[in-house]
Amino acid sequence: MSKIIQVKARQVYDSRGNPTVEAEVYTTKSSATAICPSGASTGTFEAYEKRDKKNKRYLGKSVLSAVNLINTKISKKLKGHSVHNQERIDTLMINLDGTKQKINLGANAILAVSMAVKKLSAKLKNKPLYKSFLINKNFQLPYPLMNIINGGAHADNGLRIQEFMIRPDKAKSFSEAMRICFLVIKNLSKLIKDRGLSTSVGDEGGFAPMISSNEQALDLIVLAIKKSGFVNGKDVSICLDVAANELFKKNKYSIHSKNYISVEQSISGFLRIIKKYKIKSIEDPFAENDWQAWNKLMKLTKNTQIVGDDLYVTNLERLKKGFLNISSNAILIKLNQIGTVSETIDVIKFAQAVGFKTIISHRSGDSEDTFIADMAVGTNSNQIKTGSLARSERVAKYNQLIRIEEELGKKARMNKIY
Ligand code: PGA
Ligand code: ZN
Repeated sequence: MSKIIQVKARQVYDSRGNPTVEAEVYTTKSSATAICPSGASTGTFEAYEKRDKKNKRYLGKSVLSAVNLINTKISKKLKGHSVHNQERIDTLMINLDGTKQKINLGANAILAVSMAVKKLSAKLKNKPLYKSFLINKNFQLPYPLMNIINGGAHADNGLRIQEFMIRPDKAKSFSEAMRICFLVIKNLSKLIKDRGLSTSVGDEGGFAPMISSNEQALDLIVLAIKKSGFVNGKDVSICLDVAANELFKKNKYSIHSKNYISVEQSISGFLRIIKKYKIKSIEDPFAENDWQAWNKLMKLTKNTQIVGDDLYVTNLERLKKGFLNISSNAILIKLNQIGTVSETIDVIKFAQAVGFKTIISHRSGDSEDTFIADMAVGTNSNQIKTGSLARSERVAKYNQLIRIEEELGKKARMNKIY
């Protein structure tokens, strides 16, 4: 009954309007679908995203060959295997591909199938998806890291830092966390409008006003927090994703302004804004291979969460290296950076075992799929990063967490940030 009889795929579209893979896994009784997301500021070491670069009809962006590989090779390989054996299925696909970065089948093909298998297994067991990951009791809700101002590769405004986020640290429940973010976002919208700037949003739903100085963006956020009746750094914290890969040239960085400066000067800039704006978390402060710079920053900060995204690309080998190098104290988790659910879970387990915080994340090109909301709860991850309160592909994840909180009822707890 739980044996896979067929895997089907289709080309659908993501939130940026680009083609992406949807896989559908069937047993005799039931089926489940999953959609693969897609990044813009990707790390070099990420698993390979297969696109038909030569197909001019879709400007080189279609995923029809990945779809075809699912319909043929992957479907044939998985036929007859139990949907409940996630690791076996993922291993079969990893071996069928045979490359380190999943170049033959494409991580987008493999991941869509892997996620659909996970969903179908839970469905057949009549279990909510969040109950089918690492823990089976004492479920806790993650703190949202809401991206409220977009810059970098996610907007056209010239802001150096890619993401300015808020985290409602004092919220006692997920619904309350959402209410706090809602208030700050509405106040920020008004402040932006009052300055005669546009309140149109970037790829992750945060505002993308035409301002190009980091500090101007930070000032606006501090004011929005205050106007909402909260204390910055206590009730609500400001968190950043620098995405420094995009701001790196010849061992220098242009994080704090358009000028390229040394690692030491960049660190001074970070320490200054950490203090001035009470910033609690910084993701990808330096480039993916600049291990020394990461370590220097770690040594000079005490209570700041330093998050590796492009640095680790949800890859166990890179995470181990980063752990030994003391590069960060948290990791961003993106399923499509590595390409299977099982490998993602292994990374989360290792990260948590060595005391890293795990932050489950969307991609800038995402979809209505809410898999990561369940995964955040089911892996006991204490934060989730999934955009702002705009664009349904972002809000969908928050709404799913609201449903999970409701289902848990009195047992629902917030996770711990510190
Ligand atoms: P991406 O950006 O999905 O475009 O890679 C998100 C991030 O850097 O965290
Ligand atoms: Zn990032």
